[in-house]
Amino acid sequence: MLLHLTKEEESILNGEKGEGLRKMMKLVVGLATVAGAEKLIKIESAHVSGISYENIGDEGLSFLEWLVKENVHVSVPTTINPGAIDLQQWKITGISKDYYEKQKRIVDAYIKLGANPTLSCTPYFLDNVPSPGSHLAWAESSAVIYANTFLNVYTNKESGLSALAAAIIGKTGYYGLHLDENREPQVVVKVKVDLSSSLDFGILGYRIGELVGDRIPAIIGAIPRSISDQKQFAAGLSASGTVGMVSFSNRVTVAEDKIEIDEKELRNVRTRFVSLDIDTVYLGCPHLSLSELRELAELLNKRRVRKGKSLVLYTSISAYKIAYEEGLIRVIEKSGAKVFAGACPVFNPKRSDGVIGTDAIKTAHYLSASKGSRIYITENMSLIEAVTEMI
Ligand code: F3S
Repeated sequence: MLLHLTKEEESILNGEKGEGLRKMMKLVVGLATVAGAEKLIKIESAHVSGISYENIGDEGLSFLEWLVKENVHVSVPTTINPGAIDLQQWKITGISKDYYEKQKRIVDAYIKLGANPTLSCTPYFLDNVPSPGSHLAWAESSAVIYANTFLNVYTNKESGLSALAAAIIGKTGYYGLHLDENREPQVVVKVKVDLSSSLDFGILGYRIGELVGDRIPAIIGAIPRSISDQKQFAAGLSASGTVGMVSFSNRVTVAEDKIEIDEKELRNVRTRFVSLDIDTVYLGCPHLSLSELRELAELLNKRRVRKGKSLVLYTSISAYKIAYEEGLIRVIEKSGAKVFAGACPVFNPKRSDGVIGTDAIKTAHYLSASKGSRIYITENMSLIEAVTEMI
């Protein structure tokens, strides 16, 4: 199919509105052409990943600062993923001033481009809540799966750069998961095990991702209902698979291929991430919601972190601000735990060298696979009991 561009789109592509816009349009058009799109469509919002200096390095930083010099701006509401560190509390993380300054320059560049410096991988909670049925250009695979599956919106799994290009142009190619016909399930997954925690749903998502690859699954026998279960399911799926959404509808007619998942399958995944004694616990992948922070504050009100152990919570800047005003941060930190806003446990350049405990299969996957950390994965209550004691 031939991609049809409007006169306005053609003129941007020809460089009539400057080199920055031309490059961004070239990327949007290039992706749309390769995918066989017939046109570009307007997007309601964008969410950009690749914010961490750990991730994009000096080359990424230079490119962002070049875009700023070219005087381009996002043309739709745009939020950004977490960086490597909490910029307000960087001194206590032990990173160098040089590292902090580079991470800050990345965020400053995004601000100059017009993005909202939300620094969160859960934009759908407070910062960037999409209207049902809207078309988006979101990166951050866990947020993409969450949005397509639970919020009834349309977005492809963008990369950080393609989401930024779409944010600046205000459009994306009309292909992939923007089209209803591409959102039909291609494989049925029958879950034959009772799931009792958000971690269970994370592990289920992870195993499904491994089994289905890029085929959209229709999942029968298990539905994540709480936001924690949904968030962990989406993040687990995003860590191991490439698919951008799933269906929980029982009305599946097209998919003939069937996969069954039983208790043994999920136990096998869990045992891949079991180490010995836990030194540090990271909670908040994807970022903790405000209601999760409230629950943790209530729990930690009666506990303190044991000597030699640490408990670190990760959340968005918006949720942190509200939690701070409600006095929750004071309660949590009185227990000896730390709360970081706008950062990610996986990109943290000063990770614990000891055994890391997590309730998130995505943290477990990335820290053990690409960073070589020793991981213990279990439910958050067991983790809290492992590193804290009652007072
Ligand atoms: Fe968010 Fe980092 Fe986890 S970006 S989903 S906290 S790996």
